[in-house]
Order: sequence, then C-alpha cells, then structure tokens
Amino acid sequence: MCGIVGYVGPRPVADVLLDGLERLEYRGYDSAGLALGRSGALGVFKTDGRLRDLREMVDASGANVGAGHTRWATHGRPSILNAHPHLDCHGQVAVVHNGIIENYVQLREELTDQGHRFLSETDTEVIPHLVEEYYQGDLPEAVARALQDVQGSLAIVVLHAEHPDMLVVARRDSPLIIGLGQGENYVASDIPALLPYTRDVHVMENGEMAVLTQEGVKLTDWSGREIKMNPYRVNWDPAQAEKEGYEHFMLKEIHEQPRAIEDTLKGKIKGSQVVFDSLDLPVDRFNKIVILGCGTAWHAGLMGRKYIEALAKIPVEVDIASEFRYRDPMVDEGTLTIVISQSGETADTLGAMREAQRRGSRILAITNVVGSTVSREADDVIYTRAGPEIAVASTKAYMTQLVCLLLLALYLAQRRGAVDEGAAAEVLDALRGLPDQVREALKTNGKVEDLAQRLQKEQHVFFIGRGLDYPLAMEAALKLKEVSYIHAQPYPAGEMKHGTLALVVEGLPIVAIATQSALREKMLNNIKEVKARGADVVVIAPEGDDLDEVGEAVHIPRTMDLLMPLLSAVPCQLLAYHTARIKGCDVDKPRNLAKSVTVE
Ligand code: M6R
Repeated sequence: MCGIVGYVGPRPVADVLLDGLERLEYRGYDSAGLALGRSGALGVFKTDGRLRDLREMVDASGANVGAGHTRWATHGRPSILNAHPHLDCHGQVAVVHNGIIENYVQLREELTDQGHRFLSETDTEVIPHLVEEYYQGDLPEAVARALQDVQGSLAIVVLHAEHPDMLVVARRDSPLIIGLGQGENYVASDIPALLPYTRDVHVMENGEMAVLTQEGVKLTDWSGREIKMNPYRVNWDPAQAEKEGYEHFMLKEIHEQPRAIEDTLKGKIKGSQVVFDSLDLPVDRFNKIVILGCGTAWHAGLMGRKYIEALAKIPVEVDIASEFRYRDPMVDEGTLTIVISQSGETADTLGAMREAQRRGSRILAITNVVGSTVSREADDVIYTRAGPEIAVASTKAYMTQLVCLLLLALYLAQRRGAVDEGAAAEVLDALRGLPDQVREALKTNGKVEDLAQRLQKEQHVFFIGRGLDYPLAMEAALKLKEVSYIHAQPYPAGEMKHGTLALVVEGLPIVAIATQSALREKMLNNIKEVKARGADVVVIAPEGDDLDEVGEAVHIPRTMDLLMPLLSAVPCQLLAYHTARIKGCDVDKPRNLAKSVTVE
C-alpha cells in the first residue's frame, strides 16, 4: 500500500521523485522519504509529515539516481525513524519497500548477533542489512542473495553509494512497474506516478528483479537468469491523473462518471447483444456464481447478485474476500467466481481468488487496472474504463463496476436464453441513456451541499433502503464514514422494526433511498415508522415522486428500477464529499486509509 518511485536519468531526480510520490500519496501518507545517489555517498531525507515537508528539506544537488517512498504503517508507528528509506550500518545501502517481511524477527536477531545495528521498528530494515552482509562489489548479486533469505511480500528499490548510476528493483506479491524512457528509466508501485514521463511500461511479475540504468533495463529472475521484457503502452490519459481545476480528486472523479460509463460501455453492446471481447464463458457449466471483493467492490458485488439473479436466473453468493478463504467455501468446477477489484492488487481479494482457483473454479475479474495481478491471474477479465482513480474513496470505479455487472448479467441471460428480446432491449436502452442521466443527477449538487451543512454537525446517520436500494445504502454509508468520519449505518428498511428502531430518537438524521417502484408503498410505511419516532428524514427518490409528506426529497432522474441505484449513488457520493469538505477533513486521503490495500 505504500507508494514507491525510483528514477535514473538526466532530469532533476528529486523533482521526479517528489512529483511521482505526490501522485501516489493516495497509497499511503503516514510519512515519506527519499534517497538520492551521488558519487560516494547517499543523501537521505525523511519526514513524519506530508510530502510538502519533505520537499522543503531535500538537497537535490548532484544526483542522477534516487528512490522515494510514502508510507502506510504496518510494522511500527509513523515516525521519522520508521519512515523509508532504510539503511545498512554504514549508510551505503538504501532500501524502499512495500509489503511485509514475514520472517523479519528471526532475521533481525541473526543480523544483530552478527553485529548489525537496527534503528527502526520496521520489518523492512532487515533488507539493507542483508544486502550489506552479502555485498562484495556487485549490487545486483548482493540483492539477489538477500532476496533468498526473506519471506513475505515485497516490492523494493535498492541504491548503493558505490553505484550512483543504478537502481536494483525486485518484486514478489506487491506491485512494481518499470517505466521505460529514452536515456532514462523509472520504477513505481502504480502507473499514475509514471504517466507524465512515459506510458511504456513493463509490469513486473513475481520473482523478477531488474537493474535500471540510464542506458537500459536488465530484467532477470532472482537467480540472475535473463528474462525478456514484456512492455505495453498504457492507454490512460495523463490529464486523468490531474485535478484539472477541481478542489479534490473525489469531486473530479464523481463528475467524471458520465464519461467513465460511456468508455465502459464502448464496444460492449452490438445491436441487441452484449459482447465482451475475448470472453467466451461456457455458461451452461455453471450452477452457481460467487462474487468476491472488499469494501466498495463488495458492495458492487451485492448489487451484482441482484442483477444476475434477476436477469440470468443463476444463484449467486457474495462474500467479503477476507472472510471467504477462511470458511472452507463450497466452490468447484461448477462455480463461476467473479472477482471485483478496482486496483487489482488488494491482498484479501487476491487471496480469495487464489483459493477459489485452487478449488477448480473459473475466475472472471472485473478490474480497472490493465496488467494488475488480478487481471493477470484471472481466467477472464472485464475492464472497467474508469481511468485512474486517485481519491481513496471509490466513486467512478464503483459506478463502472455496476455497469459491468449489469452487462455481465445480461450477457449470461442472453447466452442462457433466460431473457426475452424485449426485456433485454429495455435494459440496453436504459444503459445507453445512463451517462446523460448521471449528468442530470449531478445537478443535485446544490441541494446536497445544503444537506451536508446540516449533516456535518451530526455524530450518527442512518441510510435505509429496500431491494436494490439496500446495497446502495451500504455503499452510501461507507462513503460518508470513510471521508467525513461520521458514524453512518445502513439498514434494510423493513428490518428496522426488528431491533434498530430502538435507536431512533428525536432529530436522528436518516437518508431514505426510495427508488424501487415495486417496493414504494412498503418503503413509505418504513419511512413513516421512523418519522413517527422523531427522525429527520431526507428521501432520495425518482423525479415526479412527491414524497414531501414523509421528508425533504432529493430528486434524481427516473429510469428502470434496475438502474436506479446508479443514479442515486450520485447524490450519496456528493453528500459524503461535501460533508467531509465542510468539516475540513482531508477528503482525498482520509485518516488511516490507503487506496490500494496490499496487506491482509
Ligand atoms: O482496489 P479494490 O477495489 O480491490 O479496493 C477494495 C477496497 O479497499 C475499496 O473499495 C475501499 O473500500 C474504498 N476505499 C472505499 O471507498
């Protein structure tokens, strides 16, 4: 989850590193540091603050190689001593690392017995000491030997004072991407750091290491055997990773949703059929579907279950990835497992995917990142075309995951003959109209901002809904908690009277999502139940549905019930955003969180 950037070349090294780190700050932001390679000595700078603090302290002179890091603490609290880079005893070797060294306690004891001195509480610090131990003038050789000793996940960049022209990098289970330039080369834990400089990348595989110099990249396995690089060109526009005038990435990404939906739909509807390039699922083989994901991706999965069951008539289970693999899941060759992950690098999701794979299940991934681990290990991939999502709070990725799930449900339904032409055409028409309707839904911004002014003083908020509105309520509550730190709880509206109603007191704010026509009357009754107990209700409802008698309404465009959550998601995202902004929270980088969670 930490951000890593490395550079070798003629540009001002510190500027490239700091710029790249800024683009990766969403991966972790507890502390930051960088190492610059100069002839004979390394310059190392660290802060337990943010990057702007680091920028002020760096002396950038004379370097043409360097590596930087933003940290999301796992072993050891955020502090200057625990910040990366970590050094060997003599300050000759510097290492930045993402991942967890599982056997570091034992290695640390052994190295201490051999006379090495440790300064931090981190697992990472064993790596520079191991490299020091093995170093006899050949840095790649010393790194390769050190790698034989460490267990666990790692993406590392190593510098040595005697090699101010070289970076040695390696990967196992934590992402690392080499950016290829002319007379310069880059490495980073995520693509957005590279976009302003190069779009030609090699995504490192597990067990690969590489030596980067200005002249080129030598890729090998950990025993030094040369491997051919497999570069490809990233099709993300560098501008997508900029704020482009918006105050925060989260707001920009909410507004990008119409475009993201259009891009995601492109090429997937031909006439009256849903088509996915290079996807040919033996649909009749599957008697069950399992959907796996974490956080927002799990919420998308809950919606996906309803889509697939409604359209394709296949039973679906949805599981939180971190729970799935430890419950002896009933998954086999007859199961299609759908793995949802924006980043494609979430450790819990990867673990669950591998468990399902081990049990013989075919894996279909829905991910946003081409070349991510999920995309490479799955049997089939559907890409959301959201573009880079920088804000920690997921918005446009969620929206495009829902679009892909709806398309997939229809694809399965059409292949199984479970849906008639008219019904399929209705869904496809609604999907085609969705980008414009999302544009309309964005016009709720002013009204939602007023609501946020009221909400920002609250400590607890409930979100209630029935049917498809319930998983949306879950996502809406997560969004508000994540960025505004207000306790938000989602409930199935019909379930309130079985316990939760006891929590409703005078003035409790409740957002009621009431978009499902078949459940409208039942939902109205549930709203009246909470209103009768003093709740202050705001209703999200389709235009034309006059609900003033039960609460203040935020109206969104009307479409078929199946697609209503994609429209009600918009005011919910805006509500979370504005509440956090008004409260003065760090919207794009909420406390304790990181964008890509690569530890279990
Ligand atoms: O990259 P992934 O989709 O696998 O990430 C999963 C969750 O960590 C992520 O959706 C998280 O819940 C979001 N920050 C929520 O906004």
